[in-house]
Amino acid sequence: VDHLLGIKYITKEDVDLIFKTADHFKEVINRPIKKVPSLRDITIANLFFENSTRTRLSFELAEKRLSADVVNFSAASSSVKKGETLIDTVNNILSMKVDMVVMRHPNPGAGVFLSQHVNASIVNAGDGAHEHPTQALLDSYSIRERLGEVTGKNIVIVGDILHSRVALSNIFALKLQGANVKVCGPKTLIPKHIEKLGVEVETNLRKALEWCDVANMLRVQNERMDISYFPSTREYVQQFGLTKDILDSLNKEITIMHPGPINRGVEITSEVADSDHAIILDQVQNGVAVRMAVIYLLASKIKQ
Ligand code: CP
Repeated sequence: VDHLLGIKYITKEDVDLIFKTADHFKEVINRPIKKVPSLRDITIANLFFENSTRTRLSFELAEKRLSADVVNFSAASSSVKKGETLIDTVNNILSMKVDMVVMRHPNPGAGVFLSQHVNASIVNAGDGAHEHPTQALLDSYSIRERLGEVTGKNIVIVGDILHSRVALSNIFALKLQGANVKVCGPKTLIPKHIEKLGVEVETNLRKALEWCDVANMLRVQNERMDISYFPSTREYVQQFGLTKDILDSLNKEITIMHPGPINRGVEITSEVADSDHAIILDQVQNGVAVRMAVIYLLASKIKQ
């Protein structure tokens, strides 16, 4: 069975095929009838053990636009609360003839673990601070759409790198496509030895912005950290908050990204988030086409 567990496990050729397939589905979902009948014979369970707005709705829409049957599971209202294990939960769902599982889970490695214990195709929709592969794919797809290509572009990922699955998956995806990548943030929120992934560390936001074509602004993930890691919010805003004044003082235009949800006024001001420089809602829109591509390609393997 094939899975999408992380960008670490896929190749440049896989990424190219996903993007080519997503190009087709992007055209489909802009038609008056936004659906294709491709996956009428496939049933998908969306299992969310952690909160989500974008990823959960985007996967559900992607699946419905491929005409798959869809069931949604939220751990908070399930028998997980009575002590049922992850494997028991998933095997019970699979016994109802489900073919594919999309899972978000707070524990890093949960998707890999599940793929080793159940007989279904698993798509990782975010596992703790490990990976969020479809987010990285839609991010690269959106850069490609705005700038023509990812190869050779200078991309800085700003903020809480330490707790960010978005950062890790983006680093893998961007390096795979030949982009130059820097991370920028407080030292306390940058993992030790991150240079081993082929990225440079820059702790000065202005210098990072002067270097980059694209700045991907991450949310500070208060829910994943011991408070002692964090500079105060006021210090963070002063040193790493992206404002219109900073952007206006650069001698060039850069593209601004954010995976959402945004802490408005912390990592980015509303003025910047809502400006023409930002492609934040394009990222969300592209997520549906990219997830359609991922699911369609995995389902093709199930059908073989
Ligand atoms: N970008 C992202 O994963 O958002 P959600 O947590 O709302 O799914």
